[in-house]
Amino acid sequence: MRLPIIAANWKMHKTVKDSLQFAEEFIEMLGEDHKGIEIVICPPFTALYLLGKRLRGTGIEAGAQDVFWEEWGAYTGEVSPGMILETGAKYVIIGHSERRHILGEGDTAVNRKVKRALASGLVPIMCVGETLAEREEGRAVSVVRRQLEEGLKGVELLRPHLVIAYEPVWAIGTGVNASPQDAQEMSRLIRDELGGLFGVEVAQEMRILYGGSVNPGNIGGFVAQPDIDGALVGGASLEARSLADIVKQTE
Ligand code: G3P
Repeated sequence: MRLPIIAANWKMHKTVKDSLQFAEEFIEMLGEDHKGIEIVICPPFTALYLLGKRLRGTGIEAGAQDVFWEEWGAYTGEVSPGMILETGAKYVIIGHSERRHILGEGDTAVNRKVKRALASGLVPIMCVGETLAEREEGRAVSVVRRQLEEGLKGVELLRPHLVIAYEPVWAIGTGVNASPQDAQEMSRLIRDELGGLFGVEVAQEMRILYGGSVNPGNIGGFVAQPDIDGALVGGASLEARSLADIVKQTE
């Protein structure tokens, strides 16, 4: 039985003050009982330490939005897995499409980050997804397959401590979500690919999330799908009420 995950990716939208204010509201709304749903909040790095400290003991996990592939060294501006773990965070988003398409992060960088994160004990949430042009050219499957194969090259996994987020780029921030059926079809393909890489047993235990204009009104359609285990939520996770409603619709 896979534990559903609702993960919030706040991107560059919250100050430390906003993040702590959100935490107070969200904890108040949700209480201690999340009914077996794993909740992960990924704030900007500047808020990660204090948010992680505030979430300790609440059952709500913290995560980072990126990580570097070395533990120490002269890498200006970068943050290592150990530094993230020190904040109490357990998860890290890797290879988000905004890092791929705006910041030029390629599959090799994603692969190095996934390996280092796994080696450190962080749980990667590795993002894959096609652009609108790639989908219109009929290349959605080949793009996602390549991102999986290249991003997971050389990764050995005995336990399902790796999450995949399928985020069609054209659905991110547009209000136009993929249909649950299309998301399920891609998630099924992803799970089959994972089976080929890590064995069917581990693949069956791994969580696959959908991301791209998720909100309280459509989350139910996604989590009802057999191969979708939750969501990676952007805009609709910025307000405590909205994220709490998404969690409740996932129960
Ligand atoms: O990582 C989640 C994010 O890319 C989805 O954004 O605003 O479409 O929910 P949004």
